[in-house]
Amino acid sequence: MKKNCLLITISLFLLNCEKATIKKKKTGVIAQKAMVVSARVEASKIGLDILKKNGNAYDAMVATHFALAVVYPVAGNIGGGGFMVYRNNDGTKGALDFREKAPVIAHRDMYLDAQGNVIKNKSTEGAYAVGIPGSVAGAFEVFEKFGSLPFKDLIQPAIDLARNGFKVTKKQAISLNRAADKFEKVNNYKTLFEKEWKEGDWIQQEELAQTLERIRDLGKEGFYKGKTADLFVNYVTELGGIISHEDLSKYKAIWRKPITFNYRDYNIISMTLPSSGGICLAQILKSIEPYDISKIKHNSTKYIQLLTEAEKRSYADRANFLGDIDFVKVPIDSLTDTEYIKQRMSTFSWNKATPSPEISHGKILGYESDETTHYSIIDQFGNAVSVTTTLNTGYGSKVLVKGAGFILNNEMDDFSSKPNNPNIYGLIGSEANSIASEKRMLSSMTPTIIEKNGKLKMVLGTPGGSTIITSVLQNILNITEYNMGMQESVNQPRFHHQWLPDVIRMEPKGFDIQIKSSLKSLGYTILEKNALIIGRVDAILVLPNGNLEGGADPRGDDTAVGF
Ligand code: DON
Repeated sequence: MKKNCLLITISLFLLNCEKATIKKKKTGVIAQKAMVVSARVEASKIGLDILKKNGNAYDAMVATHFALAVVYPVAGNIGGGGFMVYRNNDGTKGALDFREKAPVIAHRDMYLDAQGNVIKNKSTEGAYAVGIPGSVAGAFEVFEKFGSLPFKDLIQPAIDLARNGFKVTKKQAISLNRAADKFEKVNNYKTLFEKEWKEGDWIQQEELAQTLERIRDLGKEGFYKGKTADLFVNYVTELGGIISHEDLSKYKAIWRKPITFNYRDYNIISMTLPSSGGICLAQILKSIEPYDISKIKHNSTKYIQLLTEAEKRSYADRANFLGDIDFVKVPIDSLTDTEYIKQRMSTFSWNKATPSPEISHGKILGYESDETTHYSIIDQFGNAVSVTTTLNTGYGSKVLVKGAGFILNNEMDDFSSKPNNPNIYGLIGSEANSIASEKRMLSSMTPTIIEKNGKLKMVLGTPGGSTIITSVLQNILNITEYNMGMQESVNQPRFHHQWLPDVIRMEPKGFDIQIKSSLKSLGYTILEKNALIIGRVDAILVLPNGNLEGGADPRGDDTAVGF
């Protein structure tokens, strides 16, 4: 029963839970020089306009980010956080961590009752679930390091979009209507999102426009200090939250060294801690590299089996070892070491599933030193950025800051509230990911860039909570092993295993009945609900002739534009 509840919770919170209707458009948008792929056409176009004005990928990143905060409130944000991985045209690479942090007075047991049990919904709904947002600090870090156009030109399109409004899509109307009760429950005034939405309705957000204007005029301080911060802290306090002025004024985004590793002829650059994305991606790819994947039929029983077993072992390590690297020692090198991984895979058998309880985490020799959004950009100069950003679940905590018009995240749920207690994605964690003052919660976001022969090959990422890593993985394999085009790859049905619960989650109607029954006979449990989609991958592939092909996920309203 408990397991069933968990599975239902996971599926309910996964994205907007629309049925996986995959249009069969095989080739994506092709462009010669530059491309932006994001969750909404308005945001992609705003990013591209900046590139057309001779802005670079970083200028476009800032513009796209603020535009998504307006037009895609389910995940686009200024009240959340995220990660960026970049690769410049000279081959230099880096990563920015603008992940939320726990408030100063947060503590390990803040979501437990007197008996030590997790209090339902406390880390997911309302002001107490909010982490200190990092998005605005992140945008300024990017701008200050790499931006080339005036900041006001980058944010103005988002201000105009908020003030003048935009059209609600069909999928968006469904998603907003589904969240209406929660907005009502969590806030102490009637928010602009609470009405019966239908396709074609118009959303104007004047308070958000004014907040964005303060950011335009005052910089980072237009968010973390002054009027916006007052509105933020006062409202959160009114609702019983704990974020203070000190929390906001101390927040800093951090430049980090991305995880880089080889998979066959490819060099993969992905996000490091506090995201587990890059480490798990490296572990899984290295686990399957010894097998001749291209000879195994795509999405066949053997293919699903191999990936599933590698995924189980990696997610078991994730649960045990991974947390904010600034707070806990994480043996990244050991965890991604080829010998260690070989040993982890030594119990894999083609003849039967390894039950998750038999797997647990590996033995490390020594310690050395349901809604998110992803956008991919390549500019006309050859720079690439891969950004995944989130409020955590759809519309985050559902707190819409009164007078300031932006939604706050519920990222605190990505911590492990109690060891071995699953979070909303069914992920469990250990002490490594326990809550502590100013610590960053572990993420699965996996913004990734791939090179081949020293040249840019692909930019990709996706939302999807715990499934992010395995969606990125499958798209990498679609391209590198199966020679698919970018759109073709994004369209493929996806599956996912995360060690616990011990099930293979599959997109409905995507997989052959014989494959499912042979997996079952090998001892696998399959979860395939009607309303389950896995991720929304937005990616760009550099074609052999140098053109760019966009992969915009038909599971959402995602759109690629280019020139
Ligand atoms: O950081 C993470 O891993 C999660 N907060 C991401 C949430 C997410 O992707 C929700 N989307 N479906």
